[in-house]
Amino acid sequence: IEKKEQLYEGKAKKVFATNDENLCIVSYKDDATAFNGLKKGTITGKGAINNRMSNFLMKMLEEKGIPTHFVEELSDRETVVKKVSIVPLEVIARNIAAGSLAKRLGVEEGYPMKRTVLEFSYKNDDLGDPMVNDYHILAMEFATEEELETIKKMALDINAILREYLAADGIDLIDFKLEFGKTADGSIVLADEISPDTCRFWDSKTHEKLDKDRFRRDMGGVEDAYQEVFKRILEEK
Ligand code: C5P
Repeated sequence: IEKKEQLYEGKAKKVFATNDENLCIVSYKDDATAFNGLKKGTITGKGAINNRMSNFLMKMLEEKGIPTHFVEELSDRETVVKKVSIVPLEVIARNIAAGSLAKRLGVEEGYPMKRTVLEFSYKNDDLGDPMVNDYHILAMEFATEEELETIKKMALDINAILREYLAADGIDLIDFKLEFGKTADGSIVLADEISPDTCRFWDSKTHEKLDKDRFRRDMGGVEDAYQEVFKRILEEK
């Protein structure tokens, strides 16, 4: 496969066209941003960790029947993925209250909610990714009713699979963000990434944060935390 022109540069990744119209190459950067780009920095080694972790978890999900954009890992930082049009939603699944939900509802981070919560944001940097509900999504045609039902079911299934998988590595999956894409034939697949940038991972015993919150909140030990979850999820297998 040949890498062609750059199609897009995001905060953490670049996307390139290839000689195959149905495939793209994603290249992961070490750049880190938070608060919609207001905070900027670098997390050394993050690109390779996120690329390899995301690929590993997507392969695992594929084996359990979840369609994803993953095709082939080319190198530490580069991966071939299916070309999709991204559904303009950030889909957030939450098991334990943390982050913006804990703030919004006035509970302590770590509050054990009775069931999983799904939230949606409209993916739009200029607007700061505003939260939307089913009515907005259908009224604004961000997705069709059928696509939305597929996305909800996939998000809950992914949550159940990841939660069980990570529990075996001593990691509690607190919450995470997913993005979905539509392939040329119109089917919905999991896209973007699954990594410490997009998930809250807490050590099951100590509740230590092993994710991007260490960067967002200037807690230190950012690189070590990324390496620790990488080791637990990929290397101890
Ligand atoms: O900040 P908040 O509590 O809403 O984040 C919920 C989850 O979604 C966290 O795991 C966070 O890492 C992820 N997220 C993300 N990208 C965003 C917003 C949230 O990956 N733009």
